[in-house]
Amino acid sequence: MSTEPRQRILQLRQELNRHNHNYYVLNSPEISDREFDFMLKELEALEAEHPEMADPLSPTQRVGSDLTSSFEQTTHIHPMLSLSNTYSIEEVDEWFGRVRAALGGESFSVVGEMKFDGTSISLIYEHGRLVRAVTRGDGERGDVVTDNIKTIRSIPLELQGEGWPDFFEIRGEILLPWEAFDKLNKEREFNEEPLFANPRNAAAGTLKTLNSREVARRGLDAYFYYLLGPELPADNHYDNMVAARSWGFKVSGIMTLLNSLEEVDNFIRHWDTERRNLPVATDGLVFKVNSMRQQLNLGFTAKSPRWAIAYKFPAERAVTRLRFVSFEVGRMGIITPVANLEPVLLSGTIVKRASLHNEDIIKALGIHQHDLLYVEKGGEIIPKITGVDENGRQPGAEPVGFVSHCPACGTPLVRVEGEASWQCPNKFGCPPQIAGRVEHFVGRKMMNIDGVGEETAQQLFATGLVRNIADLYDLRREQLLKLDGFGPRSADRVIEGLEASRSVPYDRVIYALSIPFVGDTVAKKVAKAFPDIDRLMAASAPQLAAVKDIGPRIAESIVEYFSNTENRAIVERLKTAGLQMSMEEKSHEDLTDLLGGRTFVISGTFTLHSREEYKELIERNGGKNAGSISKKTDYILAGENMGPAKREKAATLGIPLLSEDEFLAMLNQPRQ
Ligand code: IVH
Repeated sequence: MSTEPRQRILQLRQELNRHNHNYYVLNSPEISDREFDFMLKELEALEAEHPEMADPLSPTQRVGSDLTSSFEQTTHIHPMLSLSNTYSIEEVDEWFGRVRAALGGESFSVVGEMKFDGTSISLIYEHGRLVRAVTRGDGERGDVVTDNIKTIRSIPLELQGEGWPDFFEIRGEILLPWEAFDKLNKEREFNEEPLFANPRNAAAGTLKTLNSREVARRGLDAYFYYLLGPELPADNHYDNMVAARSWGFKVSGIMTLLNSLEEVDNFIRHWDTERRNLPVATDGLVFKVNSMRQQLNLGFTAKSPRWAIAYKFPAERAVTRLRFVSFEVGRMGIITPVANLEPVLLSGTIVKRASLHNEDIIKALGIHQHDLLYVEKGGEIIPKITGVDENGRQPGAEPVGFVSHCPACGTPLVRVEGEASWQCPNKFGCPPQIAGRVEHFVGRKMMNIDGVGEETAQQLFATGLVRNIADLYDLRREQLLKLDGFGPRSADRVIEGLEASRSVPYDRVIYALSIPFVGDTVAKKVAKAFPDIDRLMAASAPQLAAVKDIGPRIAESIVEYFSNTENRAIVERLKTAGLQMSMEEKSHEDLTDLLGGRTFVISGTFTLHSREEYKELIERNGGKNAGSISKKTDYILAGENMGPAKREKAATLGIPLLSEDEFLAMLNQPRQ
């Protein structure tokens, strides 16, 4: 091979690395996105022509892959300890005093840093190249997540500058900035997937996602805060971090050298409030003794270093005034009261609205018009009204009442016996209910119609093009092209998305119909028991209720849905449009007998796959799902937050608990 393409490849890699660093670390791009893409394309083409030049750390390798993998585990070279926490300036001052005493009066300085609220990572570099990325795990052993880490563009795959030791470890925090977090949760809300409670959970969950292309899409970032190794560039932490910054790592500019207790206290006072303006979540500050020699002298307790301390910010609460309570109508007609607030900054985001859930909660809180309300976020991201400051009540203010008629269509509301919520019974005439059902129908877990998101669904309804879910299949390209914001590409995407949805399996079609009480799990059971839509439409309530896990309420709801002539007409039109209206024979390729008929109970919450995906994996590999633990249970697939009662029952019956990783490892065994 001539030296020319070889040199060009090396040159392009170097240039692209520099531009990635400019963009993702320094926030000051020198070239446009287009120019960047152009160079990347050139590199991709050259690498394709010269496979002998392949390099897993090339900038072309940051996009991730769709292959799912499981994670190998490895032992940390140095255990990853945690920090001991303090909750007040006084406690930090006491720590400072202890350090002073332990150093025998020697002078010392401290580095003040943000405590980033994500998930910790350890990166190993050899000869200037990333060789391994490992999660904290249990502190001793962690998961090797190098492929996912490579997709984070602010992390250098090859180091820049000079002076880096041939071998070192750098530790930092992987996080999801507020903006990316909000976007991800909005998307999940739309797709009816469980929301991430906070950016920390989102970052940890994302990092353990098995599909690195999905990781690349979510927009993780990373800040670094500690360097370890036999030959570090400086004898103090601050200069080591400055050196790491010059090699391309994102080291926060907030890091400050503090030379006295007074400076430490001022740092706390300043960041206690200022941190609200940062683009990433933080849960406190960290103070570290600067000199590496002094760090060594101070050493560690069993759990944490003596040379560092964390100061945790108090849980955030804000007080703001209620502007009014709005009443919103969901796709099932349920009315949700929402407190509309004077905008207030809380943990980095502006809160304007908070759900009040139902009438009983409004009464329990005793909310009056224009009251001063307490809003909290704590670790959870969804703002919550936690109380009323009665001193701020305006004279003559009336208690907030509930509406008696639907705010969208004026129909008198009904309250179902035994339920907390009021409902609008006007299913076919109430606009937000219809629009909501269209939105649900197109969502990822339902018909997954690419190109139609929440806004487009609303737009199609508002323009009158789609008045019910069956109308979607009558859409023509020319009609879409006339809509605001639509061009040939977006119109084609919708048409192609609709086409592709014709092969979505029958059980998801049932789920997509928005039959009250029929979620994805019930839809699967119903589909299995009534393997085509005609049989399902003809089923009586007792026949439906005879299916395991289908109770009388669900059975009634299904019968009611199909006894309605408008619903039947919609289903007929969907049939004509070519949707899957019967169970497909499962392809044999999917089926293995790795689980050999064993019975699993799934319990808790998971990060790598959804509960539904696990259920499917169990079934597709010859296992059985059961709803509750009994003597017949062989394994429990145990996620986080498995209830103590279940744990105890499993222990009593001697049923082994499998983690997600262990379960996936079972499936990765070679087929016999
Ligand atoms: S130093 C041996 N510095 O907080 C000391 N940790 O509770 C290693 N964290 O697991 C930690 N920001 O995930 C350090 N500026 C910072 C940090 C930080 C966030 C996290 C880290 C660690 C946890 C300790």
